[in-house]
Amino acid sequence: MYFDLLSVISVAIDDGADKERILRRFKEFEKLIHFHFMSEENLMIESKYNDFNHHQRHHISCMDMIKSYLKDYELGKLNSMSVLTFLCDWFLVHISSHDKRFGEYLKSLPISELPVLVNMEAA
Ligand SMILES: [Fe+2]
Repeated sequence: MYFDLLSVISVAIDDGADKERILRRFKEFEKLIHFHFMSEENLMIESKYNDFNHHQRHHISCMDMIKSYLKDYELGKLNSMSVLTFLCDWFLVHISSHDKRFGEYLKSLPISELPVLVNMEAA
């Protein structure tokens, strides 16, 4: 879902889409990431994840950076490719480090202690 949207944005940039259309897609990604963070943090709380505070600070920092990048894009201080590159790089690093550690923690729990997952794609 996340990489699909980043791919859509990349194609829009390559196709020369106007700034307003690209900005709306960037904001769509921002809202998707915000939703993802909230869902992930709920799982951390419910599973009593011991690194929750550190991970949450990383989420907050990320949201602040995304807002800053989008503002600079709106003001013409950054081009669309710079914003897209930041989003892709950040997302890959976060998944391969922080989210991976949380995934390993969940795998270590007995089934009886796993929080309930909501599959949004099935809704
Ligand atoms: Fe995360």
